[in-house]
Amino acid sequence: MTEPLVLGIESSCDETGVGIVRGTELLAHAVASSVDEHVRFGGVVPEVASRAHLEAMVPTLEQAYAESGVRIQDVDAIAVTCGPGLTGALLVGVAAAKALALAHDKPLYGLNHLVSHVAVDQLEHGRLDRRVGALLVSGGHTEILLVDDLADGVQMLGSTIDDAAGEAFDKVARLLGLPYPGGPHIDRAAQDGDGRAIAFPRGLTKGRDLEKHRYDFSFSGLKSAVARHVQREQAAGRSIDVADVAASFQDAVVDVLTSKTVKACRAEGIDTLVVGGGVAANGRLRALIEERASAAGIEVRVPRPGLCTDNGAMVAALGAEVVRRGVAPSSLDLPVDSSMPVTQVVAA
Ligand code: KG4
Ligand code: ZN
Repeated sequence: MTEPLVLGIESSCDETGVGIVRGTELLAHAVASSVDEHVRFGGVVPEVASRAHLEAMVPTLEQAYAESGVRIQDVDAIAVTCGPGLTGALLVGVAAAKALALAHDKPLYGLNHLVSHVAVDQLEHGRLDRRVGALLVSGGHTEILLVDDLADGVQMLGSTIDDAAGEAFDKVARLLGLPYPGGPHIDRAAQDGDGRAIAFPRGLTKGRDLEKHRYDFSFSGLKSAVARHVQREQAAGRSIDVADVAASFQDAVVDVLTSKTVKACRAEGIDTLVVGGGVAANGRLRALIEERASAAGIEVRVPRPGLCTDNGAMVAALGAEVVRRGVAPSSLDLPVDSSMPVTQVVAA
């Protein structure tokens, strides 16, 4: 049997993505981002994101057709992110997917955004044919997942109890006077700094907190500690050493992310880890996860940065996988679910 040809649509946050995939082969990867429209607010504004999706949807679809030479009549299925994410933003993608499915008489698959972040690795490193762990880190999420089976068998082992990792980078960047989104700026500034200069706290890593939240994360205490440090230095009339603060903050985040993820993989007997989300572009995270995972005998698979951040190809990749397995399509009156649980890969 030939591999299924699937068009995927993503609109859960601030990226409008359309991807076309045949099996594990990437044919089109068109993304329009509204990030510039959120800069002056220092974070994603849902209403602004929804409007931007509306404006970008048709041009992004057309770009994907042009890139791949694929016609909508020829695809086997339409896949779309239906959760988790921002409700208004999700609605734009789901409405577009329904319109295409209805107009061209194609099966429609409403898919889980988090599982798509894992499935996308198939486009880069080939089929995931074993149990894998996944660390997802972006502006919207920070989760450790256990994936027994991409189509049916995903568990959440842990997640953040407050800010997402990327959100912490963005907030700390703001404290340091660096532009939004702050992650890449902190990453760059940290290269000239000493990660051991300031001992920032590692959230949920000790005593009762650790017992209760073995694989969960918390970054709000860290963010407050950075704020207190900055205030203290300013009050004392000292200038802030941005490089040292950036490096010490980054080390605290990356230390906790990597140590908890590797522990979770070991406890679950997992030997392959996929890392995804915008923060996966972080140089220190990439180096330390590789170091700690390989010391524990775990292979790390990180898709290239353009596939780690939100995009339509990841939705098409998961879509192709579920179509290949013969999973039943979703209903045409599929709702969006802003807090869709990770245990639900395909919406009914
Ligand atoms: O996955 P993504 O592009 O978008 C969503 O969150 O939807 O992730 C964006 C996040 C932002 O918080 C940004 O600051 C962070 O990823 N980020 C980074 C780096 N590049 C992007 N964080 C740390 N280091 C980086 N190099
Ligand atoms: Zn995402």
